Amino acid sequence: MTSLAIDNIGLLVTNDPALGEGPLGELRDAALVFEDGVVVAVEAAGVDADERVDAGRRCVMPGFVDSHTHLVFAGDRAEEFGARMAGADYEAGGIRVTSDATRAAGAAELERLARERRAEGLRAGITHVEIKSGYGLDVAAESKSCEVAAKLTDDVTFLGAHIVPAGFEADPDAYVDLVRGEMLAACAPFCRWIDAFCETGAFTAEQCRAVLEAGRAAGLGLRLHGNQLGPGEGVRLAVELEAASVDHCTYLTDADVEALAGSRTVATFLPATDFSTRQPYPDARRVIDAGATVALATNTNPGSSNTTSMAFCIALAVRDMRMTVEEAIRAATLGGAEALQRDDIGRLTPGARADAIVLDATSPVDFVYRPGVPLIRETFVAGSTVWNSSFSQ
Ligand code: NIG
Repeated sequence: MTSLAIDNIGLLVTNDPALGEGPLGELRDAALVFEDGVVVAVEAAGVDADERVDAGRRCVMPGFVDSHTHLVFAGDRAEEFGARMAGADYEAGGIRVTSDATRAAGAAELERLARERRAEGLRAGITHVEIKSGYGLDVAAESKSCEVAAKLTDDVTFLGAHIVPAGFEADPDAYVDLVRGEMLAACAPFCRWIDAFCETGAFTAEQCRAVLEAGRAAGLGLRLHGNQLGPGEGVRLAVELEAASVDHCTYLTDADVEALAGSRTVATFLPATDFSTRQPYPDARRVIDAGATVALATNTNPGSSNTTSMAFCIALAVRDMRMTVEEAIRAATLGGAEALQRDDIGRLTPGARADAIVLDATSPVDFVYRPGVPLIRETFVAGSTVWNSSFSQ
């Protein structure tokens, strides 16, 4: 077995307070050793290994764990975005526009597009990604989407209950029955998770409950989109059903915050969405201070968040959601892993998957201090380089 050391690290973020200083377990002048795709040692700089990458005293940290994306889609909604910037409101119904384009695309085209977006994410330091379906909205297109997603990640989420498609307006419950019946049966073999969009204009709490319970019976874990466009029952439903995460959490009441704080459900914030839809930013400070676990994710999709930049999300979380830099870095790495109920990623500790990023910076503070600057120098997934900034020179 060949060992690879990332040596001469100026600042190493491990995400394990037992290994280093502060909440991120930081070490100075360190080295990281990988073998067979996993971290085998965290040591002082100057380590012995078969191969060596010199970090040049830069910062090395766990790769980003993006626990909420919709990477499988065709078409774009640039016009809708332009109209919004000119004053129009964001509406969930725009999902149908992307659904038309996604149904029309063949599986090979959808895969090509999703792979391009995944490559963009790797360049941006995202070493693990969750991918939802949700732009097919019929049995064939949803299962096609899940199959494509399963080629890119083992965290695939079935989101048939994304919006009621055309043809079912008069009888949304008939669509819910299709989702929890034939569509779920076709998609579940590709998926680890099931999700639903609990919102005015999408699905009621009772419809979401029916979908999620069917998913659970089919062996899937639960996630929920909730409280995105206004207050609602999503957060409390997710907590009651012990969902792994409830995502958006833009509009929270005291009861929602209390419910999250007393639960294992991770509150996942998607600030690039609030940026793009001109919603207020979630009150992360209140949620964290109450004791809930939080994650940050990109929500890459063509309607409400057309970005693969976790760095952008971190900058917004610190600047506009009053998270500290340490909280935002943790939420974008270990928090994402917790939202996906995984303990093999999101940290650089012995036994963890060797998913790391070398920054063109000496500290992760630069994601906020130098917003918009590409700071990912090299991305490692399972111990192999998948992106190096020298590739593009
Ligand atoms: O998470 N909220 C539901 N789904 C996506 C939006 C999708 C769209 O507008 O296309 C989201 O923001």
